[in-house]
Amino acid sequence: MSAAPLLEVTGLSKSFTARGGLFAGSRNSITVLEEIGFSVYPGESLGIVGGSGSGKTTLGRSILQLIRPGHGQVLYKGRDLCALSEGEMRGQRRFVQLIFQDPYASLNPQMTVGRAILEAMQVHGVGADDRDRKKQILALLERVDLSAEHFGRYPHQFSGGQRQRIVIARTMALGPELVICDESVSALDVSVQAQVLNLLNDLKDEYGLTYLFISHDLNVVRYFCDRIMVLDKGRIAEIGPSPTVYADPQAEATKRLLAAIPGRSV
Ligand SMILES: Nc1ncnc2c1ncn2[C@@H]1O[C@H](COP(=O)(O)OP(=O)(O)OP(=O)(O)O)[C@@H](O)[C@H]1O
Ligand SMILES: [Mg+2]
Repeated sequence: MSAAPLLEVTGLSKSFTARGGLFAGSRNSITVLEEIGFSVYPGESLGIVGGSGSGKTTLGRSILQLIRPGHGQVLYKGRDLCALSEGEMRGQRRFVQLIFQDPYASLNPQMTVGRAILEAMQVHGVGADDRDRKKQILALLERVDLSAEHFGRYPHQFSGGQRQRIVIARTMALGPELVICDESVSALDVSVQAQVLNLLNDLKDEYGLTYLFISHDLNVVRYFCDRIMVLDKGRIAEIGPSPTVYADPQAEATKRLLAAIPGRSV
């Protein structure tokens, strides 16, 4: 890890204001992320694990500026994304992308998959013209083990695993550098999960990608990621190489996650 980090998060905090509550009009502030700091290096897969409500999704969305964090820096190639305006951030979106759990929710049901990918490329100025874009899309559909004839079909005509491949194709069409996967395979059957994970792994090498891989399942992350970061109540409980974290957990939060894996005794 001698290279400069691709992503460097420092002192990142986020609170939400919960309105209502016991007394009408009262406002309680809940801290969801507290002083988060870590680096991700080019070509690395960093797993982010933690129990439900530990702050994984909030962290992913804060990095992407889909939620503006309260404090801290998100340095992407040395540039603080938190300091960018919405307009400037839009220019960065093709390079830092999110793939999340429900591929159906991220695809417009009224738009053919080809059209959806084409529009995303147009918006981000990818490709010379529509003919060139279409050529790229057909190649990408083949690459994710779909086929050219799927270009004109609608999302509901696909299985869950196929839909996730369409979302992956659309992501890749924009030429990302950092991809944040938030429970991207959790909704799929175990065998389909393995296929999609293999695809993501192959694409990582082909496109030179870096992944932040969010999951509540330490077993998935263990095989997929180089390093694991464990979140607990909005703080980093532990971070280290996957085999070390798995074999010799230090934090109580990590031990709890390991104990939850069926068939494994801690
Ligand atoms: N918009 C919001 N307003 C108020 N509280 C929120 C908001 N979004 C998230 N939270 C709270 O922040 C905490 C962390 O939520 P988050 O979704 O980041 O957890 P998570 O680790 O992704 O959980 P899961 O494994 O269930 O997906 C939770 O307590 C949640 O209720
Ligand atoms: Mg989540």
